[in-house]
Amino acid sequence: MRKKIVAANWKMNLNLEEGKKLVDGIIAGMPTLNEQKEVVIAPPFVHLAQTAGQLQGKAHIYLGAQNCYSETAGAYTGEISASMLKSVGTAYVIIGHSERREYFKEDNAMLAKKTDQGLANGLKVIFCCGEPLEVRDADTQNAYVEKQIKEGLFHLDAAQLKNIVIAYEPIWAIGTGRTASAQQAQDMHAHIRAVIAAQYGKDTADNMSILYGGSCKPSNAAELFACADVDGGLIGGASLKADEFLGIIDAMIKA
Ligand code: PGA
Repeated sequence: MRKKIVAANWKMNLNLEEGKKLVDGIIAGMPTLNEQKEVVIAPPFVHLAQTAGQLQGKAHIYLGAQNCYSETAGAYTGEISASMLKSVGTAYVIIGHSERREYFKEDNAMLAKKTDQGLANGLKVIFCCGEPLEVRDADTQNAYVEKQIKEGLFHLDAAQLKNIVIAYEPIWAIGTGRTASAQQAQDMHAHIRAVIAAQYGKDTADNMSILYGGSCKPSNAAELFACADVDGGLIGGASLKADEFLGIIDAMIKA
């Protein structure tokens, strides 16, 4: 069953008190969701236990983390393992965000290992991909994203792939206010689905949720989510305000 998902990526924002208020606001305004729709909230690590408590007993709204380490445990000062995330009630982990790729030099091989850690510990993985502006300008974005997906995910079997959500986030659209057009998003999402279908079959591809990310907000979410292959969004800036995030959830429900 292909789910529609709206996921909040807070990035490195909000202290504990601010985070608590934001989650309270989201819960207070949350519409009733059915089995085919999910909301994910991915705060910074220090918020996870608190947010887990706030989400306890709430249907269709899940806790996510923004990253995990590529090893199981041991002498990796400052890192957080997937099993630690699981132990505080995390259901999803975001892997391969472009900011991790760029600032922390995470390559596809490292991201494949992180994905394995997430899956091995019972987490669903939101695997991010997306091209920089120069690649879009050269019109080679399809091959670029295909390579990220193949190197990051194609070592998995079809059963494992059921726990993967792909987020397409063109780097030129992240935090810039410049959203991909609905057509650009749809074209890439259809391409990603075709890449998955060629390797894993049409059923697996049809059941995969593919999210769009990059300056998604209440005013453009409806148009993006109306695209046949866009199954929701990964939301940065607009996830930091309850009313904006709820507006995007609303667009998902109506799509
Ligand atoms: P943005 O970020 O919504 O602020 O553009 C999206 C993301 O990076 O996940």
